[in-house]
Amino acid sequence: MKVAIGSDHAGFPLKERIKEHLLERGCEVLDFGTTSKESTHYPIFAKEVALAVQRGEAERGVLVCGTGIGMCITANKFRGVRAALCLNEYMARMSRLHNDANVLCLGDRVIGEELAISIVDAWLETPFEGGRHAKRVELIREIEEGHI
Ligand code: RB5
Repeated sequence: MKVAIGSDHAGFPLKERIKEHLLERGCEVLDFGTTSKESTHYPIFAKEVALAVQRGEAERGVLVCGTGIGMCITANKFRGVRAALCLNEYMARMSRLHNDANVLCLGDRVIGEELAISIVDAWLETPFEGGRHAKRVELIREIEEGHI
């Protein structure tokens, strides 16, 4: 699986840890930065990861900032991107089963490193359930297109 990743300065340490983990899992990683703890702006990186997912250059995206909130708000501005802020494995599983989330947002200042890795694993391993949830995801698409 090809995964696009990105963070701001606050999410940089966790982004690096997640990158290492994704590579260990055999994923191909597209790292859009940032590259240090120097202060920067989360929308820059959210945009790059969201575009990679939107264009199909990556199957999934993972974004990390201090809380995960700014990344999630920004990524969800992009058509076809369904970004989910997950604080635990349950949310990660549900975001896949019910929402077919294609971008995972995490908060480096909110959760510990090992919990974050468990969340990433649960999120990568859980399929979309489809069925009645497919209709709901389709409604999101229709809203994006301005049809409803
Ligand atoms: C940076 O201080 C912080 O605002 C950012 O990482 C993020 O938490 C925003 O949502």
